[in-house]
Amino acid sequence: MRAARGTARVAVRGHRRDGVGRKSTTREPIIQEPVSSESTAPEPEATRRDADVAESSRANRGWWDRNADEYQTEHGTFLGDDRFVWGPEGLDEVEAELLGPPDELKGRDVLEIGAGAAQCSRWLAAQGARPVALDISHRQLQHALRIGGTIPLVCADAGALPFADASFDLACSAYGALPFVADPRQVLREVHRVLRPGGRLVFSVTHPIRWAFPDEPGPEGLGVSASYFDRTPYVEQDDEGRAVYVEHHRTLGDRVRDVVSSGFRLVDLVEPEWPSWNTSEWGGWSPLRGALIPGTAIFVCVRD
Ligand SMILES: C[S@@+](CC[C@H](N)C(=O)[O-])C[C@H]1O[C@@H](n2cnc3c(N)ncnc32)[C@H](O)[C@@H]1O
Repeated sequence: MRAARGTARVAVRGHRRDGVGRKSTTREPIIQEPVSSESTAPEPEATRRDADVAESSRANRGWWDRNADEYQTEHGTFLGDDRFVWGPEGLDEVEAELLGPPDELKGRDVLEIGAGAAQCSRWLAAQGARPVALDISHRQLQHALRIGGTIPLVCADAGALPFADASFDLACSAYGALPFVADPRQVLREVHRVLRPGGRLVFSVTHPIRWAFPDEPGPEGLGVSASYFDRTPYVEQDDEGRAVYVEHHRTLGDRVRDVVSSGFRLVDLVEPEWPSWNTSEWGGWSPLRGALIPGTAIFVCVRD
């Protein structure tokens, strides 16, 4: 995984690289070999600076297209091909039931946002739901095709959902889109629009407190090194100053206000504790840090 370079920051699921190198899938790839751009390209510079909606979207589409293979190789086994895991702690929807009891998922139209290889959607389909998996990255969705299933896949930006009003009963996102967008309210308003009255949105993001700490899994990741209140985005940029990766920080209060001002009612905020069975590291998430500070925040919201 890519270690934090230059700035004390938070990395989302999969951004850092630690070479766990597990093979994710049960099927042979049906897609072409990736073009490796990272091995030859100069290392981008990590900094904190503004990045607007368009720059963030363009940068992250490119980053996830270039890094989807590595993400799925590294984390595919932990995620499982057809499990619904909310974050590096390993909280599984089977036990969490944040979308409601599994037997009530049958027949529900569900939108998964920032679906990656659509592992969560595959689990939802197995419960009898009708998921649609949306992601900005074409390469991530190619991994969804490689793993298989009959879930509709949509390549689009979460800030402009290509669906009619009131198309879905439920929406969910496990670290998809919301950590990366410059205007999370635009995404939330879009989700509100495509949900039917009474619908539910559940999404997980990096716990905002992590932005105050270095993104390191070991003891060096335990000391406050930056202001929690500094909302300046984390940006990696190329040698011409073009962003190639962007993450946006919102404080916990910001996230609550984003949810409420977009028309949702916040019914729960889940901070999964690190379970004793989970001995694995995922970027800056580790058993050591997980025992002391939260790593994931999950927002459970209702569209009245
Ligand atoms: C950390 S991965 C999570 C993927 C999947 N939910 C999982 O749990 O493995 C973040 C995903 O969000 C997607 N993403 C980032 N920005 C997005 C946007 N603006 N709209 C839609 N998807 C986006 C990325 O392409 C990537 O697949």
